[in-house]
Amino acid sequence: MPGAAEHLDRILAEARGAIAGAESTQALAEIRAGFLGKKGSVSTVLRGIGDLAGAERAAVGKAANVTKGEIEALVAKRREALEGADQERVLAEHRLDVTLPGFAPPRGHLHPTSHIEREMCAFFTQMGYSIEDGPEVETDWNNFGGLNFPEDHPARDMQDTFFVPGGNVLRTHTSNVQIRAMTGQEPPFRFVCPGRVYRHDLDGTHYPMFHQIEAVCVDEQTTFADLKGTLFAFARHLFGESTDIRFRAHFFPFTEPSAELDIGWGGRWLEWGGCGMIHPRVLLNCGIDPERYQGFAFGMGIDRTAMIRWDIPNIQLLFDGDVRTAEQF
Ligand code: PHE
Repeated sequence: MPGAAEHLDRILAEARGAIAGAESTQALAEIRAGFLGKKGSVSTVLRGIGDLAGAERAAVGKAANVTKGEIEALVAKRREALEGADQERVLAEHRLDVTLPGFAPPRGHLHPTSHIEREMCAFFTQMGYSIEDGPEVETDWNNFGGLNFPEDHPARDMQDTFFVPGGNVLRTHTSNVQIRAMTGQEPPFRFVCPGRVYRHDLDGTHYPMFHQIEAVCVDEQTTFADLKGTLFAFARHLFGESTDIRFRAHFFPFTEPSAELDIGWGGRWLEWGGCGMIHPRVLLNCGIDPERYQGFAFGMGIDRTAMIRWDIPNIQLLFDGDVRTAEQF
């Protein structure tokens, strides 16, 4: 095969130019196929050596294989360069600018009622009170009877009760927990119970569902002075050291004496809750000897406390689920 060496030289020169000009790895693969693929020019030379005489066949075969090796080396080198460039480009395109301002995901926070409820509970647990829980659907006994509400007494109406079919009620106050927690428990003990209560009532300061917290303390020497001291400390913890409270004589079937409790806020007296010394009959109803033990109890609205603290004008703002309201706290 005359001129085989020159032919291969030309192929090599052509390949060198084409490979150097390849702009992508894909273009490079196509160029490589043009020389080394099945129908490529080097492959064609190699296929043709079968027709040559012995000595020439060996020489041309060897030369073709050398050319093949050189082209492979050129392709490999170019591929490496192109891949490096690809990577550079990817890095450049996906560059992360760490100096850009970040995106702060919006953060939720507690509802004002939950917020103040936690503050209230923390105050009492720190004073050694435990936290009790009770159901919202309650028996007549735990909500009324055990608390010394006489049968058919208008006091039951006073609380705008929701009656549940089957004789139960939606609890009208957290005082149901007095009966539940005191029954079968040997004094001394003290506990608080926060929770939802229900009354058939709706205006700017009343809502059919609201939250109360109940506090109970029973021991051998518990007096009204302990009640007063506890309430003063509680009010000052929540509203500041100069806060005043006052008592107004009142009636509850389950306390004797009883008082309504006002808090001095913004130059006015606002109704805050009810309190008193636990009625001996209530202690008896729970199996506690009233000759030996006395106790005080009080209860107040948690939502009401939040409204006073943050000057919220209407209780419905707390429960209408508008995040624009919640965001203000
Ligand atoms: N349960 C009473 C109410 O809801 C408040 C209260 C609690 C009064 C404990 C005295 C003692 O109005």
